[in-house]
Amino acid sequence: MDRELKYRRLEQAPPEEIAELRKRVKESDWRQTYHIQPLTGLLNDPNGFTYYAGEYHLFYQWFPLGTYHGLKYWYHTASKDLAYWRNAGIAIEPNEPYDSLGAYSGSGIVKDGKLHLMYTGNTRDEDWNRRPYQCMAVMDADGYITKLDKPLIDHVPEGYTEHFRDPKVWKVEDGYRCIIGAQRKDLAGTAVLYKSTDLINWLFAGELKTELKDFGYMWECPDYFELNGQGVFIFCPQGLEAEGDHFRNIYQSGYISGMPLNWETLEFEHGVFQELDRGFDYYAPQTMEDEQGRRILVAWMGQPEIGYPTDTHGWAHCLTLPRTLELRNGKLIQKPVEELRKLRGEQAGVQDTLISETKSYNGIEGTAYEMICEFEAIDAEAVGLEIRAGHTERTVIRYDAALGKITMDRSASGERIDSDYGTVRSCRLDGENVKFHLFVDTSSVELFINDGEEVFTSRIFPQSGSRGIYFFANNGSSGLKVAKWDLAHAVNDREGKD
Ligand code: FRU
Repeated sequence: MDRELKYRRLEQAPPEEIAELRKRVKESDWRQTYHIQPLTGLLNDPNGFTYYAGEYHLFYQWFPLGTYHGLKYWYHTASKDLAYWRNAGIAIEPNEPYDSLGAYSGSGIVKDGKLHLMYTGNTRDEDWNRRPYQCMAVMDADGYITKLDKPLIDHVPEGYTEHFRDPKVWKVEDGYRCIIGAQRKDLAGTAVLYKSTDLINWLFAGELKTELKDFGYMWECPDYFELNGQGVFIFCPQGLEAEGDHFRNIYQSGYISGMPLNWETLEFEHGVFQELDRGFDYYAPQTMEDEQGRRILVAWMGQPEIGYPTDTHGWAHCLTLPRTLELRNGKLIQKPVEELRKLRGEQAGVQDTLISETKSYNGIEGTAYEMICEFEAIDAEAVGLEIRAGHTERTVIRYDAALGKITMDRSASGERIDSDYGTVRSCRLDGENVKFHLFVDTSSVELFINDGEEVFTSRIFPQSGSRGIYFFANNGSSGLKVAKWDLAHAVNDREGKD
């Protein structure tokens, strides 16, 4: 794509163009009702996720003028309760020499009563070689943002390429720490660590030492935290080959956990790499710790380099719902935050019943809802659900009890997603019972299985009339219990700092 067009600033676009874009977005059948989504253009990574001045703040990567990865801004949204969100306007504009081609991903931390946002300034030299800078913008309680006049880290340490970005910062007893996604000169993905006492002056500490020696060519969006006395390192490796049910998307998101990172040696003893999500559309997760000590994660419900049906509607992508993290035997358990219950309308349901075929129930249907569906004492070969079902459309979620396998199939979900990465995702799951906790929105489904043991996050693009929900048990029977709530509209489509 033409560079001038790709890196166009918002003020370079004529008002008629923006009005036309907004009109197209407004007419889009696939606008979400309780997920954070861009007013126009493309959203990607969540950034700067923090609690500050009585609110959760969640920013995201934003290119306002098209559904491609153009000049990135930080857009600001805020919420008192993680359920209802308000748009709070542009936070960081790429308007300094050190971030002139994009205010790339980063994180937030509160210090001296202000929210400090550390991010990567993307630039290129005259030969179009990357030149990343790690920068800082400071927000006060009125939402007013100023940038520091120069970057905090103005060069890439010896031994690494210019693929050096996405600082995640956190507080420790004697100051601050930061982890940055990197690529070594031998083209291996990795992450490096920095230390600071004041958040402004940073000292290179070295490379994070893990057992993952040949694990992709770049690690994006690193995040490190401690949970129940254990260390957890989340990152997004690019360049892994698919292996069975694993690594099926273009890029992956996952974690390793183990003993807390040793700051003397930078060694991190850890278990195997595990994927955070088993669905199709999930990337660049970021976590924060809130006032109640919960570790909360939000991710981008999308993947790069894939065409989505809303591209022609002038907008692309949304964020996932916030999820709390717990660590159980080295595995992260993810649950939707409890506050989402505030969105629940009236309850519909099915009391304990036995099914041995495909069934639907009066009043159980919809396009934006939460549903908990428990299959118990399964003696069928397979049980499951069809959601957003219409004449020719359905998204199928199936538990194959005989094989111990969960599958999400979006091959007939609706409008085709332009991806070479297949239409079925699976993972292993053992047990006599299975509990599906679903959040379905106009164009997405988030499925939490057995209280957060596995999660499948996916976009789907059905027609608005495809509202059906079917429950099935194949070759045998199963107990079934269902509770369902329509969910309230929880994000607004208004611009600005309301
Ligand atoms: C991940 C990513 C980050 C980068 C940002 C740019 O999706 O590529 O590494 O900072 O997006 O928008």
